[in-house]
Amino acid sequence: MTAAAQRPAFGTVLAPQMAVVSYHSGAWGEFQVKPVAPIELSPAAHVLHYASTCFEGFKAFRHADGSVHVFRMDKHIERMRQSARHLVLPEPDPRQLADMVRAVIDRCRDAVPEAPGALYMRPLLIGTTANIGAAATPAADASLLVLASPVWDYFAGGMKPLRILVDDVNTRSAAHLGMVKTGGNYAAAMGPTLAARTKFQADQVLFCPGGQVQETGAANFVLLREHELLTRKLDSTFLHGVTRDSLLTLARDLGYAVNEREFDVAAMLDWVKTGEAALSGTAAVLAGVGTLIYRGQEYRVGTGGVGPLTCALRTRLVAIQQGQAPDRHGWLQRV
Ligand SMILES: Cc1ncc(COP(=O)(O)O)c(C=O)c1O
Repeated sequence: MTAAAQRPAFGTVLAPQMAVVSYHSGAWGEFQVKPVAPIELSPAAHVLHYASTCFEGFKAFRHADGSVHVFRMDKHIERMRQSARHLVLPEPDPRQLADMVRAVIDRCRDAVPEAPGALYMRPLLIGTTANIGAAATPAADASLLVLASPVWDYFAGGMKPLRILVDDVNTRSAAHLGMVKTGGNYAAAMGPTLAARTKFQADQVLFCPGGQVQETGAANFVLLREHELLTRKLDSTFLHGVTRDSLLTLARDLGYAVNEREFDVAAMLDWVKTGEAALSGTAAVLAGVGTLIYRGQEYRVGTGGVGPLTCALRTRLVAIQQGQAPDRHGWLQRV
């Protein structure tokens, strides 16, 4: 068996320690770091009935000298606070959450894999108030946890070109909640994604409500061609990816014209006759699309393989994350 074959699937193994803090009577308490174990929750907890929950996902990287660096933690914490606000959950204190992340990384230092692996950090916020009559009442009490997981490839095939089903019927979220990283959005994508897998052997669904290209179930979507990048402009309907922001910055550094605007399925199918398409996210990094499937027909993206621009941009980002290229934008924080 190869080393890659022995690696656990993304997210299936947890590092041994987690950080936990509770919110009661209008204030966060002191956090604790402790061994990962089941948590106690009332069966009437708000989160279990009314889905008052949001989470984050970002990575810490081990550099060649053994030091560990977390990538754009502040931006992820800001996004989590934004998610909490939209869900009327208590907002995490940014300094406390950063301390919790650093404490977990510090206590799980041995679990940070060497490149190309990383320690994936997963803060989770849940409404804990016990009240089954609170459909229209926010949770007054909450818990914030930080979990960690050593990870490698997100897509089982590594750099294999992806098959993506283009779906202009279903939506992955309510229009005002797409920018919120909350479990319900993933629940909404689950059925269409599993159906696309069974029916079309698709890796993911690209949601295009009303024919406008949005994002996939767990990543943003970008189109690339020589010196040009196109992606949907930020609005409330989809997640504002930190990887998206990083890649757009790197593309601008390289002299790309970066276009952020709405575009429809017809424009995308036209683009991919010669251009490239890719999914961007913490887990996917930048994963090339080889085939789009739309209304039962298959459309080859470029040559059908992972395109050279996708590879180059991915390599550039990963080199910064892994400490092999200078961090000109100050994205890494040593822990
Ligand atoms: C729905 C969705 N869109 C986009 C992204 C990409 O966001 P980020 O680049 O911050 O990981 C994610 C998470 O990876 C996601 O779950």
